[in-house]
Amino acid sequence: MAVDAGQFRSVMGRFATGVTVVTTCQEGERVGITVNAFCSVSLDPPLVLVCIERTSRAHDVLLQSGVFAVNFLSKQQEGLSTCFAGNSERRYRDFCGATSHSAATGAPILDGCIGYVDCRIVESYPGGDHTIMLGRVEALGQSEGEPLLYYRSRYHHPHENAR
Ligand SMILES: Cc1cc2nc3c(=O)[nH]c(=O)nc-3n(C[C@H](O)[C@H](O)[C@H](O)COP(=O)(O)O)c2cc1C
Repeated sequence: MAVDAGQFRSVMGRFATGVTVVTTCQEGERVGITVNAFCSVSLDPPLVLVCIERTSRAHDVLLQSGVFAVNFLSKQQEGLSTCFAGNSERRYRDFCGATSHSAATGAPILDGCIGYVDCRIVESYPGGDHTIMLGRVEALGQSEGEPLLYYRSRYHHPHENAR
């Protein structure tokens, strides 16, 4: 059966997710991309995966740097999600105005995120128009706060109506 792209998007959009910004650092320059194709893979060893569109600018930078951090956004960080999914000058020049620090790999950890895993890429696999990047977790952390949610192509905030 041929799968219609619009229907595929619509059906997949019914799977509710959190929102992350996947970051890396190359030659001192911070790079980030909004991603919800993220999941935990293995506890021992600790592995996670992210799926990154091959045509995205972030794709090659991530593979070349060999490291990434996955930052779980709080409900106060919708603006960062929008910025890191767009093509604004602010994103490329100013890292969307985000402040960050680093943990084990040097990938930026966004201040205010509710959790992060800091990873070294151990494998990458072709996944159609995306690349599946498998990362081994080298550092991790968490903070209090509520998550930013994404469902049916819209942001949602816990305990509030859809925005
Ligand atoms: C909520 C949300 C989730 C997204 N998830 C992904 C994802 O999992 N993988 C991906 O490659 N792009 C994802 N995107 C799209 C990228 O963020 C977007 O294409 C970005 O502009 C690519 O930028 P670049 O080409 O400058 O790297 C998502 C966008 C949004 C708003």
